[in-house]
Amino acid sequence: MASLTQKALILPAKQGKFVVGSTIIPSPGPQEVLVRVESAALNPVEWKIQAYGVFVSSYPAVLGTDGAGIVEDIGSDVTTLAKGDRIFWQGFFEPQYGTFQQYALVPAELTAKIPSGFSFDEVATLPVAIATAVLGMYNHHPSFKSAHFIPPWEESGLTAYAGKPALIMGGASSVGQSVIQLARLAKFSPIITTASPRNAPLLTSLGATHVLDRHLSHSDLLFQIASITAGTALTFAYDAIADPDTQHVAFDALASGGTLIITWDKAISAAEQMADESKTIVEVFASVYVPEGRETGVAMFKHLSGWLESGALKSNNVEVLPGGLSAIPAGLERVRKGLNATKLVVHPQETTG
Ligand SMILES: NC(=O)c1ccc[n+]([C@@H]2O[C@H](COP(=O)([O-])OP(=O)(O)OC[C@H]3O[C@@H](n4cnc5c(N)ncnc54)[C@H](OP(=O)(O)O)[C@@H]3O)[C@@H](O)[C@H]2O)c1
Repeated sequence: MASLTQKALILPAKQGKFVVGSTIIPSPGPQEVLVRVESAALNPVEWKIQAYGVFVSSYPAVLGTDGAGIVEDIGSDVTTLAKGDRIFWQGFFEPQYGTFQQYALVPAELTAKIPSGFSFDEVATLPVAIATAVLGMYNHHPSFKSAHFIPPWEESGLTAYAGKPALIMGGASSVGQSVIQLARLAKFSPIITTASPRNAPLLTSLGATHVLDRHLSHSDLLFQIASITAGTALTFAYDAIADPDTQHVAFDALASGGTLIITWDKAISAAEQMADESKTIVEVFASVYVPEGRETGVAMFKHLSGWLESGALKSNNVEVLPGGLSAIPAGLERVRKGLNATKLVVHPQETTG
């Protein structure tokens, strides 16, 4: 390694201003690898941490939860990876594990090799989105909020849901695209989603059978969903947007006994839930680093390369921002304002600031 220091995008204090600075390149622990970060994707959680001061308790912080790069150094116990391997992974909000820097640590078991033919930029769009889908649907840890479905890496997970309808609010979001693809893998049918009409071809190509205009009214959406399911109970809804409007549509469309997975604060009141207590709402916290998410995370990372190779999983559309880490603050502002089915990616090695 040419230098012991690296450039990192640092959040110096709670709700502070991001600044590009210099940090020491860490050494991997026995079961970890050090990765040269070639591509890091931006997620809503990073602007939310900066704006609201949530999730991170210790500062200065380095954020970044989507990464792809080249293994630079391996811990003494690592047998599954070697120096030079191309991998992608989910980062964590601890300084040495964030992906908004030039070198990051990651536990070897929480990585997947990049199949040939896929770029760093493409696969960097996936880890957080697919982890949010997988942990919300398939985690069986007793203290993790999940739908507790049978995962698709178990044989019965590929047949148990065949012919059951699925509703995905916000199919064009990164999380929504992953949920649609998992629903297709599990043979849910029909797979109904909401999006801007311009995204219908993309979402159909990922597995959605019906794309409803997300600008329709609450009652029109409920009517359309009921027409499509045609009397079959809708017992699975995933709200990838989870604003109050999308949550209410999903909750009202859900049949008794059904499960709604949400990705942000619950907007359904206790009184509304009491009207039908058999409906379950689970709020996912999509980190494969928390102890109760780890086992499912490890299982998921074992399957990601295969899903990419088979075409079961496709990455998001990518826009690469010039300027490396320096481009992230303005990029996060764009994420906050809302993107169109696109993931913003930076190349930390090209940092100019
Ligand atoms: N709980 C967790 O651990 C966790 C993990 C990851 C993400 N999240 C949260 O999940 C949400 C989605 O994240 P993301 O990265 O997937 O978002 P994203 O990719 O930035 O989402 C952008 C897309 O959202 C769609 N959208 C916006 N408002 C919508 C609405 N009312 N109805 C339907 N679609 C709508 C837009 O679709 P159109 O272009 O079709 O209009 C747009 O393309 C965020 O709130 C994020 O913070 C939570």
